[in-house]
Amino acid sequence: MDESKSPRESQDLYILVTGANSGLGFSICCRLADEFLSSHHYDDTLTIIFTTRSARKAEDTRRRLEKHLHSSAKSTPSDRARVNFVSESVDLGDLPSTRALSRRLCQHYPKLDAVILNAGIGGWSGINWFEAIWGICTDLVHQVTWPSYKLAPVGVLTSRQTQREEEPALGAVFCANVFGHYMLAHNVAPLLKKAKSPNGPGRVIWVSSIEATIKAFDINDIQGLQTKVPYESSKALTDILALTSDLPSTAPWSVEGFFGTPSKEDRGPDESSTEVTPEMHVCHPGICATSIIPLPLPLVWAMVASCWIARILGSPWHAISTYVAAWAPVFLALSSQGALEAAESPYRQSGGGRVKWGSSTNRLGAERVSSTEVEGWGYGGVVGRPVVESDRLRRRKRGAVDLTREEKENFEELGRACWKQMEQLRIKWEGILDQAEQRQSSSVDKPTGL
Ligand SMILES: NC(=O)c1ccc[n+]([C@@H]2O[C@H](COP(=O)([O-])OP(=O)(O)OC[C@H]3O[C@@H](n4cnc5c(N)ncnc54)[C@H](OP(=O)(O)O)[C@@H]3O)[C@@H](O)[C@H]2O)c1
Repeated sequence: MDESKSPRESQDLYILVTGANSGLGFSICCRLADEFLSSHHYDDTLTIIFTTRSARKAEDTRRRLEKHLHSSAKSTPSDRARVNFVSESVDLGDLPSTRALSRRLCQHYPKLDAVILNAGIGGWSGINWFEAIWGICTDLVHQVTWPSYKLAPVGVLTSRQTQREEEPALGAVFCANVFGHYMLAHNVAPLLKKAKSPNGPGRVIWVSSIEATIKAFDINDIQGLQTKVPYESSKALTDILALTSDLPSTAPWSVEGFFGTPSKEDRGPDESSTEVTPEMHVCHPGICATSIIPLPLPLVWAMVASCWIARILGSPWHAISTYVAAWAPVFLALSSQGALEAAESPYRQSGGGRVKWGSSTNRLGAERVSSTEVEGWGYGGVVGRPVVESDRLRRRKRGAVDLTREEKENFEELGRACWKQMEQLRIKWEGILDQAEQRQSSSVDKPTGL
């Protein structure tokens, strides 16, 4: 035995997945288990903490996950003991519930290596059928990738969060897709900071959408309360926050505020400078068949058939199966830090930064994780022509143009403004929730007057 080699330390990974009882979230959990078993050392273990909204859904999900693990070709009985599924509950539209989950996690777990912020709602009320049929018949690939026929009501709010007479408005889609997750990730930052190499620092992984476009987003209406496309607005905000999260210009809010890492100037002489700030990443699943748009069964099949045709016609984003769609978030959660940096390096070497990773396939269905073009950020924030050959070859959204320096500066400025507003909103709501808790505990302590 080579004495100079130190024994390998086993890794115990902890990954949180929200919205795991259906669609993409369920497949993310299955694929995390499969990829972990095929890529990690036999001493390593994985705990997948999955969230649902009820005890019944939690039990059903756990049963189906265990069944998947047992039937998976990649797992042997000893392998199975290395993957542990633990259920948690949270309603992201209910901030006290989000807060309660983060407290339970901080109490019961030693660390979190990644949180996959998957849960979400579309908030749609229906479909403009005439536009949908016409669009799909005349412009299939574009219309089944960036549909323009979904209808959503304007200004839908969450239920009340506290018993206060007055409460600031909180958009339902904004809260479920962005703000609930934002509060959750902020509150578990201490656990993410405990993640260690080779996977560390801890990762916040947002699940966005190919449909996100800054054209749907208005900085003066960050919650999307006045727009007819609140889902697209919420996903655009997701992209903006994640893609600008590591820029020096957003650091006062993203690093010091959100992740609670003091700046060099604010650090006391005794404070350790070795604290590692978690990282934020963004991905999307492409298009996959789930119940996020509730459709009657015959229409589900018609939609799936249209997606197959789009894929054969060269659309890279029609993953169709949720298992294939889960690849990008799983890649971001399980890859070593070195592998993630290697994937980003062509973009960073050309002056870019964070990349929006998407689950994509070729015409025959061979899957891969690909960089996704974002309006205002291009491919990985690189100005000019795409630097990676596969990005140049991949089919683009109609009308897409190469990123200009001015557009990139505007995007960075938008990121700064979004981070500032999100932190202000978080602090405001933390105050409201603190007060509500205090009132509740003092009313419990009060003598009954008997
Ligand atoms: N399907 C696609 O093609 C596609 C494309 C792009 C992006 N995405 C994104 O992928 C993610 C998953 O969507 P999906 O397609 O898998 O849809 P889905 O099957 O409807 O799953 C959504 C999940 O989120 C949960 N959820 C919804 N509202 C919640 C709340 N307020 N609190 C906690 N959990 C909540 C749902 O739980 P309940 O069952 O209790 O409602 C469910 O588990 C979403 O972020 C979506 O935007 C999907």
